Amino acid sequence: MGILEVKNVGKRFGGLQALSDVNLSVKENSVHAIIGPNGAGKSTLLNCLVGKLIPDTGSVMFDGQSVLGRAPYEINQMGISRVFQTPEIFGDLTVMENMLIPIFAKRDGAFRMHAIEAVSSETGINEQAEKMLEEMNMVDKRHMNAAALSRGDKRRLEIGMCLSQEPRLLLLDEPTAGMARADTNNTIDLLKQISDERDITIAIIEHDMHVVFSLANRITVLAQGTPLVEDDPENIRGNPKVREAYLGESA
Ligand SMILES: Nc1ncnc2c1ncn2[C@@H]1O[C@H](COP(=O)(O)OP(=O)(O)OP(=O)(O)O)[C@@H](O)[C@H]1O
Ligand SMILES: [Mg+2]
Repeated sequence: MGILEVKNVGKRFGGLQALSDVNLSVKENSVHAIIGPNGAGKSTLLNCLVGKLIPDTGSVMFDGQSVLGRAPYEINQMGISRVFQTPEIFGDLTVMENMLIPIFAKRDGAFRMHAIEAVSSETGINEQAEKMLEEMNMVDKRHMNAAALSRGDKRRLEIGMCLSQEPRLLLLDEPTAGMARADTNNTIDLLKQISDERDITIAIIEHDMHVVFSLANRITVLAQGTPLVEDDPENIRGNPKVREAYLGESA
């Protein structure tokens, strides 16, 4: 049994069957990559795991408990945190203020801007945020507005924001999309470090095969809303089915 068990999940948008018969088992403490061409249903699947979408069919169990029908904040409190495909940081807040938000949100189940200042002076919260900034190597940027950060640092901040909630499962939707190679490599190193040093499971959606093969110990290939293969990276590499799914893309 994996920490995350997805069984027969289906999701339809009007006339489009975005997901059908999705089965996925993510082993505890693994790095599990979900790859597939544009429109394969990867983000839709992730949305079904975090309460942003409710599948039409099937079940999603996290650590033996169903996530279906729960609000996103409840799923978050169960131990799942997610980095979105589009960065979800507050550009006009400082790096430190951004870091306080998820700690506060996990505790209270909601985020109210006016309460941040009051809460941040409470014992523990500031310290937690400081510690995470240290771990992310961002202490010297704590007073900068988040909008002024480089793309790589925005991702680093977001990953730190997720980790500050001490999740057991971290979901990442294309964390290196649009990054220059140097930032991509920094992100790979950061994720390796997180995976090695923490008791955490990572599920990552990624198009960049360099990232996938640097990190993943298990890979699911999604094509047209349904898993095509799930295997170890060495078996995925030369698999003709994978090449076919990626026709016209680099696999
Ligand atoms: N809310 C929605 N309403 C209608 N159609 C949607 C919705 N969300 C996604 N889709 C469609 O479902 C399909 C799967 O989309 P999804 O975003 O999950 O793909 P993806 O694998 O994440 O693609 P990409 O690699 O481009 O991010 C696409 O055809 C998309 O247009
Ligand atoms: Mg997507």
